[in-house]
Amino acid sequence: MGILFAAPQLEFDEIREPWVASVLELAAKGVFVGGQAVSDFEAAFARYSGTVGAVGVGNGTDALFLTLKALGIGPGDEVVTAANTFVATVEAIHHTGATPVLADCDPDSYLIDPEQLRACLTPRTKAVIPVHLYGQMADIEPWLSELTDRGIYVIEDSAQAAGARLRGKPAGSLGTAACFSFYPDKNLGALGDGGAVVSASPNVLSELRRLRNHGGETRYTHEIPGFNSRLDALQAIALRLKLSRLDEWSAHRRKVAQWYEQYLGDLDGVVLPSHRGDESHVFHLYVIRLPASARDEVRKALQKKGILTAVQYPRPIHLLPAFRHLGYGSGDFPIAEFCAERILSLPMHIGMDEAAVAFVCGQLKEALGRSRSGSQAI
Ligand SMILES: Cc1ncc(COP(=O)(O)O)c(C=O)c1O
Repeated sequence: MGILFAAPQLEFDEIREPWVASVLELAAKGVFVGGQAVSDFEAAFARYSGTVGAVGVGNGTDALFLTLKALGIGPGDEVVTAANTFVATVEAIHHTGATPVLADCDPDSYLIDPEQLRACLTPRTKAVIPVHLYGQMADIEPWLSELTDRGIYVIEDSAQAAGARLRGKPAGSLGTAACFSFYPDKNLGALGDGGAVVSASPNVLSELRRLRNHGGETRYTHEIPGFNSRLDALQAIALRLKLSRLDEWSAHRRKVAQWYEQYLGDLDGVVLPSHRGDESHVFHLYVIRLPASARDEVRKALQKKGILTAVQYPRPIHLLPAFRHLGYGSGDFPIAEFCAERILSLPMHIGMDEAAVAFVCGQLKEALGRSRSGSQAI
């Protein structure tokens, strides 16, 4: 029994027929970039995200970068984010010329630690980027008024949290703006690269519409120096079809997480992800923690049984060669470092059923047992 890690192909199967029909219609009209398909998806996604507007862009990294640019962030400014995020969050800050400032995470939820974040704020802080990591929303509501009073923008990195809702409020509806990735493996994934920014601010939205399209909302106006980062119509069609299934698919992911809890709950040495037990977690990833000495061995053993896993992410930002210049060193973010050596993402997707979860958990128990007894068999 082989178990995929993620399964965008299964999601595609669910939308294949209407997607092909719409693409054929589009091809007949010759509108491949922008057009009605993109604006229809943007309107639907803004509504879904409980906010005023959405701007489709080329990918999630551009969504972050262009949002920072739209907010006027650049050299001399500081932007605070988590030490344990995907590298794109920090790349986006770096490329504006602003300085990324890192904060450690909470060891149970892996989300940015609010106290650490507060300690990073200086008069130069222009924005914070809480990351809704692994599909769980960081609870930023309690800090919002303090940050707004200090003139600090809040940009939700929602790349991993499409479909999540905290106390009924969708990911993307809390901050100044929120950035989504539609990379195919994401909970709302396109059939290639894609991204979007949602915001309640008409100014931010119109600035983004200019920045993504060579500095002008309409052709050849070029009011500011811009970029080329647009959402393809073919992707927008797929995204609109998948958006209508997202809540159902998120519910399935939560069910898979429940099965993991059922089968792994009593296993010594395995730390399961903490969550609030509500819709604020959509389990983009199901990340457990193992003893550091066992993690890589267990991973290899699972792979031998056809079970694909991943480590997201093996090194925190401050230990990556690309960000050495920030001047941090080993030991600066002890929780992020501790977690990076122990975390393992188990298979999680809409094709997982209870039997698949039971198989993964059974193999995991065996591999962990063998690793503990020092056997070389795995
Ligand atoms: C937390 C986070 N931020 C940003 C991104 C960047 O998105 P993209 O790959 O679409 O550029 C990702 C994608 O993996 C992500 O996981």
